[in-house]
Amino acid sequence: MAILVTGGAGYIGSHTCVELLNEGYEIIVLDNLSNSNDEALRRVKEITGKQFKAYTADLLDKKHVSDVFSENKIDSVIHFAGLKAVGESVSDPLRYFKNNITGTIILCEVMQQYGVKKLVFSSSATVYGASGNVPITEETHLGATNPYGRTKQMIEEILQDVYRSDQEWSIALLRYFNPIGAHKTGRIGEDPNGIPNNLLPYISQVAVGKRQQLQVFGNDYPTRDGTGVRDYIHVVDLATGHIKALKKIQSANGVDAYNLGTGKGYSVLEMINAFEKATNQKIPYRMEERRPGDAAICYANPLKAKKQLGWQPIRDIDAMCEDTWRWQYNNPNGYEKVSELNKDSNYPVQQHAADFLSS
Ligand code: NAD
Ligand code: UFG
Repeated sequence: MAILVTGGAGYIGSHTCVELLNEGYEIIVLDNLSNSNDEALRRVKEITGKQFKAYTADLLDKKHVSDVFSENKIDSVIHFAGLKAVGESVSDPLRYFKNNITGTIILCEVMQQYGVKKLVFSSSATVYGASGNVPITEETHLGATNPYGRTKQMIEEILQDVYRSDQEWSIALLRYFNPIGAHKTGRIGEDPNGIPNNLLPYISQVAVGKRQQLQVFGNDYPTRDGTGVRDYIHVVDLATGHIKALKKIQSANGVDAYNLGTGKGYSVLEMINAFEKATNQKIPYRMEERRPGDAAICYANPLKAKKQLGWQPIRDIDAMCEDTWRWQYNNPNGYEKVSELNKDSNYPVQQHAADFLSS
């Protein structure tokens, strides 16, 4: 029996595929590659030395999704597939509601049709909004403040209703805090399209010389040094959280939400310092106005995941920065250029990366 991983070619999905394969699970990936590159899947195979089936399919295409279920014996689903850019969701909300919500409904309909009722869903700390009460527990009031966040909150509610209607379902809603870092091999990592929205991809692109300087959004927050505080979590720790959640849903029915964070908050200036230490170079930055919609401070109380899933993150902020940097340094242009150059060639990918750096 296999685990279906929707969005498995993406940042968190690809790291989770590695951990699943290392744990001996059979996996099947479904991804429309709208925000990813199949080179990531090739590298998942390279890292693990294992093979798996991958479908280039869109969740909105119900026939194609059904085919994946009819062609395979699927036991459980880990559902990463979705659009995730907050700003884009404000300018194009309908695209976000259609892709994320309709996509999830279609997935659940097909699961129901095939009697597959075990689901791990990628939710987000964004469902808590910007209330500012920390640490955030799973009982903290929900109040997403943008269309992207509302897709996550609505999907959580839909999944609660699905369980209420049929108690054979078993669903884990995983609320991620701020995933950063990369696999320690430096072969897979986060590959944002265009100008990064998030702090760590931006810092690492400054470090590699792709961007001139970082803008720090606000230094007048009521925090230690005035800059925003977040709970950064290593993507591999997040991936292991999915394995723990999978084990839980395979052993008991129900629907439950879990915070996946470390419980520690770091400010923007602390992250710059940590990154400078890991890369041994200066990150130029300038202070800017606050970014609209940003909370001052956001970090998790992760005790529920520890108690009920037996999960605990183990990688510290130095490891997060070092691993981000290894990925960025070896792949300054992400997957795209490397995979183009590497096509039909035995020339080592690392060598291409070195060439990009020196050119
Ligand atoms: P990502 O964009 O790298 O991965 C998402 C994947 O889903 C991509 O490969 C994309 O091609 C695919 N996809 C999107 N719509 C699809 C569709 N209709 N059909 C098939 N495939 C589709 O993002 P990520 O950072 O790996 O995030 C994974 C999940 O975790 C997302 O649901 C995201 O909202 C959620 N999340 C991410 C963060 C974060 O900061 N990265 C934080 C909280 C929650
Ligand atoms: N920041 C900067 N400069 C930048 C980018 C970010 O100063 O160029 C600051 C922000 O103001 C914030 C902190 O760095 O104080 C972290 O910002 P990110 O954009 O990296 O992360 P957010 O916490 O704002 O949001 C992210 C995702 C959301 C998700 C949320 C919780 O973008 O989708 O984490 O999981 F909902």
